[in-house]
Amino acid sequence: MADLTSEPQHSVILDELRGLTIDEIFEKATSLYNDGQLNDSDMQAMGSAVVTVNRIFSKQEQHHFFIRQATLEDVDSLMEMVDFWAKHGQNLPRKRQDIIRNIQTFAVCVRDGEVVGCACLYVYDSGLAEIRSLGVSPIIQRQGQGRAIVEFLLKRAARMAIKRVFVLTRSPKFFSRVGFTRTVRESLPEKILKDCENCPRRENCDEIAYIREIPSLNI
Ligand SMILES: CC(C)(COP(=O)(O)OP(=O)(O)OC[C@H]1O[C@@H](n2cnc3c(N)ncnc32)[C@H](O)[C@@H]1OP(=O)(O)O)[C@@H](O)C(=O)NCCC(=O)NCCS
Repeated sequence: MADLTSEPQHSVILDELRGLTIDEIFEKATSLYNDGQLNDSDMQAMGSAVVTVNRIFSKQEQHHFFIRQATLEDVDSLMEMVDFWAKHGQNLPRKRQDIIRNIQTFAVCVRDGEVVGCACLYVYDSGLAEIRSLGVSPIIQRQGQGRAIVEFLLKRAARMAIKRVFVLTRSPKFFSRVGFTRTVRESLPEKILKDCENCPRRENCDEIAYIREIPSLNI
């Protein structure tokens, strides 16, 4: 038979605490302390428990990242990332001046205070835009940064009432995982007229066109 006089099991959550936030639990403890039902050492234990919970969660945040609009302070990092993937034949090279002039089109992924990914949204007329210069640091591939950057730019596109976003890529699997569908290059007349006619690889281009429709935001 269970010993009902022993300390309650730590893994069992009391009914009166279920559904409460940490703040609410702390408030409850404070009011019990004020009523004299809890003592100083109970309150100290409560404080350490909150600190421990915070520490556990901030451990996960070491790998936390976020996406934001790029600024001129990011230009060196942008150049580095774009150059790196251009040398590996995954992206087109871009001049520093070009990145600076188009800084408002770029988004960066920041992790531990460092830029670890980037891309830009190049807007054409007639409701079409292109994702360009997408790249994530080679040491943190496949951890969600690429998807997060693309989703950030898709939201930006929706706010600008852009109807379709396309990409010309050698990473087709990634783009199909993030909701793009394969299309024929001929459906992208503006792109073909603008960039491809000067490209040395235009006769045997191995980039695949992917496109995503952008639902209207109705704002
Ligand atoms: C393409 C690139 C940006 C993807 O970034 P990433 O952070 O590694 O990708 P994510 O972790 O966000 O992946 C999102 C999804 O795509 C999948 N994916 C990513 N790369 C993939 C690949 N090469 N093959 C198959 N699936 C892939 C992931 O498994 C994930 O799928 P899930 O969400 O269903 O689990 C990155 O690989 C990169 O920098 N490549 C070099 C530059 C480049 O090719 N840029 C594109 C030019 S248009």
